[in-house]
Amino acid sequence: MIKQVISKLYNSSPRELLHQLRARLRPTKPSWADDGEVRRISDELRRRFSVYQVSGLKTISPQEFSDYIHSKIGQVDYQAEGYADYELDRQRDLSIKFHWGHNHDFGDFRLEGRMGDRHINLLANFITLFPISIEDFEDKDVFDIGCWTGGTTLLLASLGARVFAIEEVRKYAEMTSFLAKSFGIDERVTVEPISVYDCNSDEFYDRFDIVYFPGVIYHLSDPLLALRILFNSLRVSGVILIESAGINREEPFCRFDGSLVYGTGTRERLDRSGWNWFVPSPSALYRMMREAGFDEVETLWHRPTSRVYGYGRKVSQVGICKAGLSVPSIR
Ligand SMILES: C[S@@+](CC[C@H](N)C(=O)[O-])C[C@H]1O[C@@H](n2cnc3c(N)ncnc32)[C@H](O)[C@@H]1O
Repeated sequence: MIKQVISKLYNSSPRELLHQLRARLRPTKPSWADDGEVRRISDELRRRFSVYQVSGLKTISPQEFSDYIHSKIGQVDYQAEGYADYELDRQRDLSIKFHWGHNHDFGDFRLEGRMGDRHINLLANFITLFPISIEDFEDKDVFDIGCWTGGTTLLLASLGARVFAIEEVRKYAEMTSFLAKSFGIDERVTVEPISVYDCNSDEFYDRFDIVYFPGVIYHLSDPLLALRILFNSLRVSGVILIESAGINREEPFCRFDGSLVYGTGTRERLDRSGWNWFVPSPSALYRMMREAGFDEVETLWHRPTSRVYGYGRKVSQVGICKAGLSVPSIR
């Protein structure tokens, strides 16, 4: 216990300690939300998501819709993603071969995604853990980072948000775009096949109310730069919601994996997990978010999913330390 307290004092800045103390004293939920509340919100989100069934298609017939989706699943198209033969063995399996992301019951057919019902559960977790509600998405500009096959993008749109989604893997961005067009919501949903690092320009400044950033930060080689780009993309008073693979440590540590460490799956099936760079502890994420400019930062270890969750607000356009920064010209 004494060792823990000393380690905490040693590893935390005074401000961070104050934030943590405040978070402890506040009569809030525990670091994982009440099961019943999560279930209630998940049910509501599931209900909203259910509009995306073939009966709701606007611009395409159910048959054409199903044929197009099924023609993409399992496709290997590394040339279209811009990879040369010599660099292929270092590329992410999921970038080379098309895998479906989130579960989706289209009515006539159902797709099991690699990430299951994550799109629903994640949002329910954010809403129960942090000061944000379903209604807060209505009529808001939401920046959806790393949309994969669009489950999250469609869900956010079903809450009444205008969604700008980006995805570095072209085939997934195209699928998300296809879904938005097919369901007639492409006026409210824009999808670009770009990386978060392509968003460091004036056209992205002060543009969004919410940055939705789950499942991506540990896939990034420069998480601080990405956070700063996303900070700049928020309007003052906008919020960021982050979820990440993580390590359950008190200290502000990141584990480095790199592209040569794989999880489950096989090379033959091109379905291995991995391709993670820095995997943060909650306090490491906290420090990164503070460095990037965020205030009101809360991070926590979410025990039910063994992942890290984070929340922060852009209170003002503060500066960032330029020393050693990979892009010192950044705003
Ligand atoms: C684990 S999935 C998470 C999908 C979804 N955001 C979620 O939380 O369920 C990560 C996605 O982020 C994409 N991604 C990784 N690095 C990216 C980058 N630099 N810019 C945009 N998307 C990226 C991946 O291609 C993948 O589709």
